[in-house]
Amino acid sequence: MAYSYSSSLITTFLLLSLLHLSSFHNFLAAKHSHHTSSSALHHHHHRLSPFPAPNPRLHQAYIALQAWKRVIYSDPKNFTTNWVGPSVCHYTGVYCAPLPNATTTTTTVAGIDLNLGDIAGFLPNELGLLSDLALLHLNSNRFCGLIPQTLSNMSLLFELDLSNNRFVGPFPNVVLSLPSLRYLDIRYNDFEGSLPPSLFTKSFDAIFLNNNRFTSLIPSNFGKSSASVLVFANNNFDSCLPPSIANLADTLEELVLINTNLSGCLPQEVGFLYKLKLLDVSSNKVEGPIPYSIAGLAHLEQLNLAHNRFSGIVPEGVCLLPNLVNFTFSYNFFCEEEGVCRNLTSEGIAYNDSRNCLPEKPLQRRKKECDAAAEHPVDCYGYHCGGGGASVPLYSPPSHG
Ligand SMILES: *[C@@H]1O[C@H](CO)[C@@H](O)[C@H](O)[C@H]1NC(C)=O
Ligand SMILES: *[C@@H]1O[C@H](CO)[C@@H](O)[C@H](O)[C@H]1NC(C)=O
Ligand SMILES: *[C@@H]1O[C@H](CO)[C@@H](O)[C@H](O)[C@H]1NC(C)=O
Ligand SMILES: *[C@@H]1O[C@H](CO)[C@@H](O)[C@H](O)[C@H]1NC(C)=O
Ligand SMILES: *[C@@H]1O[C@H](CO)[C@@H](O)[C@H](O)[C@H]1NC(C)=O
Ligand SMILES: *[C@@H]1O[C@H](CO)[C@@H](O)[C@H](O)[C@H]1NC(C)=O
Ligand SMILES: *[C@@H]1O[C@H](CO)[C@@H](O)[C@H](O)[C@H]1NC(C)=O
Repeated sequence: MAYSYSSSLITTFLLLSLLHLSSFHNFLAAKHSHHTSSSALHHHHHRLSPFPAPNPRLHQAYIALQAWKRVIYSDPKNFTTNWVGPSVCHYTGVYCAPLPNATTTTTTVAGIDLNLGDIAGFLPNELGLLSDLALLHLNSNRFCGLIPQTLSNMSLLFELDLSNNRFVGPFPNVVLSLPSLRYLDIRYNDFEGSLPPSLFTKSFDAIFLNNNRFTSLIPSNFGKSSASVLVFANNNFDSCLPPSIANLADTLEELVLINTNLSGCLPQEVGFLYKLKLLDVSSNKVEGPIPYSIAGLAHLEQLNLAHNRFSGIVPEGVCLLPNLVNFTFSYNFFCEEEGVCRNLTSEGIAYNDSRNCLPEKPLQRRKKECDAAAEHPVDCYGYHCGGGGASVPLYSPPSHG
């Protein structure tokens, strides 16, 4: 069954009822600020159905929540203290709503929000009984262990926020089986290993994977993706950015790859991402020139290339981008700024060009470092990133300084 993002009635029903606790909603509102954080979510104690009649779905939810409470070992804020008795819609953090598409009005548990609870415990298999959940927010707790496979039962789940916990194991593939999921946030955990290629072909709108231990980046071969925000910072991909990044062109607006051990050249295909507003590849080992195709990114507002091994000329086309407000390229090996790039202040663009090899600028690298880099220019034309790892080693200028 095709659940299209805008036309799913299920989603519309539940979202209308639950919008007040949706971090996706906050995310849409704050999308372009880059500092999107669902931890800013407040707790609401508004009840949608104050006195729902008991029904089999609420009874299943009761079994699930009691099983969960049994494996909660610390709850310093007493979130689950009132998780007693069959009236689950009165439990703190549990939100009920009418089941969509039901012939008679059936109340069910549609959302769970335990954000900022500092709760220690794990997720039991019984959570699969909460099959009508649209939102599951567990941001900033101490949940540990694996994500149960039974989450695959949550066919209406739209937002999953497991960020800032202590989950471990490989990428939780169960999320790939959730047909309604659009917002996936698993940042600040200890997930490890490679990312599944199909992650990029799901109908996710936003994927936050930063601050884990993932070790492979974007596969060299994948279909069209629907993601508009990819935040992968602070993982150890040890790979290059493959040309297949172009498959994200129709939707991608923010790509954040800070400190991911990215190497090799940036592919010309970065310039195909015509909706891009934010590109941050800072604190990596990317080398070679800036692909000139970036000069075609008409919506680009923030470009951060700092702390890499870029070299060559900073092309004027980039400095003339109509929406650019901040161009940071300090700590590289650029040796020339073309045209207006020499005075970005006059363009009204915030910038930092320090610690490069720019002869007329202050705060540059030592001549010795710059000479060494100039003797070994990087040829990106002969370079090919295979994706998911294999980056052909190029000459690397000294990284210190
Ligand atoms: C939680 O409940 C315990 C026991 O009733 C109480 O001592 C403690 O102060 C409560 N903590 C908070 C944050 O309300
Ligand atoms: C709910 O109803 C809508 C509109 O009739 C339909 O598109 C959708 O597939 C239904 N969902 C389920 C789970 O039956
Ligand atoms: C999935 O949900 C249904 C109710 O919708 C329930 O009967 C079934 O036991 C659940 N399966 C698992 C594995 O939790
Ligand atoms: C980055 O990748 C290199 C291999 O290219 C590896 O030797 C190094 O340990 C990685 N860096 C970090 C910080 O893990
Ligand atoms: C420009 O971006 C850099 C890197 O993200 C940031 O450190 C700096 O504060 C920004 N400058 C302004 C004026 O916003
Ligand atoms: C850069 O441009 C600004 C504003 O147009 C001007 O005040 C400043 O003197 C210029 N700086 C240099 C180094 O030319
Ligand atoms: C540029 O970065 C350098 C090094 O981090 C810093 O010392 C300097 O203040 C920055 N300049 C501007 C204009 O932000």
